[in-house]
Amino acid sequence: MNGWWFRRGWGFAALSALLFFVAAPLRSHDPITTRLTWSQEISRLVYARCATCHHAGGPAMSLTTYAEARPWAKAIRDEVLTRRMPPWGAVKGIGEFAGDPSLTQPELDMLVGWVEGGAPEGDPALLPARPPDFHVPAAAVPKYARTLVVSGSAVLSRASSVVAIRPKNLPENGSLEAWAMQPDGQVERLLWLRDYRRKWDRPYVFTKPVRLPAGTKLRVSGTGGAMLFFAP
Ligand code: HEC
Repeated sequence: MNGWWFRRGWGFAALSALLFFVAAPLRSHDPITTRLTWSQEISRLVYARCATCHHAGGPAMSLTTYAEARPWAKAIRDEVLTRRMPPWGAVKGIGEFAGDPSLTQPELDMLVGWVEGGAPEGDPALLPARPPDFHVPAAAVPKYARTLVVSGSAVLSRASSVVAIRPKNLPENGSLEAWAMQPDGQVERLLWLRDYRRKWDRPYVFTKPVRLPAGTKLRVSGTGGAMLFFAP
């Protein structure tokens, strides 16, 4: 019941945020009210967090120059505020995963502040000197891991450490919540995916394996199941 209200509250907040921005469109002659500029802060942030996909020849439109990024300014603000970009799927704050590309709050504030402040270019002489490296290695599941598919619930017969979790048979736009109930009643939330996009399918590898005692009950709810990877 609690979870339901929480989710509803979330969607509502996102919707009000959207309505607010639809009601206040950005015009090209908006006055510049920010000291943040493309040439200084924003290019560096976009190179680090977005250009891995958003570059010429990449899977999404290029955002590597001011001329390319400026027309997308409003869309950039909306995409990062709703956390659709960078695509990750997992709700922030539940589980800690290797390679999580989610923006930090200061990074998000910086992008939004730049857009709302009129998205100025600044002095091109201040652009980073070297072309950025767009390669990011994906987090891999350790080879030795044992696996267990859970849809519904399962009980651990012995103490185990979860190293990663991956959605299984989750439909487009589906959702999934996975958590562990330890015998002493302690609840560990493992992963929460919302608005799942099949093309972003990936294992979510924990930065630190989650140690669970024997008798822990694993629960997976939502529109699909999950595959859990354990240390041997
Ligand atoms: C893992 C690859 C990837 C990363 C990283 C990424 N994007 Fe995207 N982005 C995409 C793809 C692919 C699309 C095309 C639409 C889709 O499939 O969702 C897209 C679409 C967009 C759009 C257009 C949305 C629309 O209105 O149609 C914007 C704006 C955007 N991204 C901004 C960003 C920003 C800003 C960042 C960094 C903070 C970022 N993206 C990081 C892959 C990525």
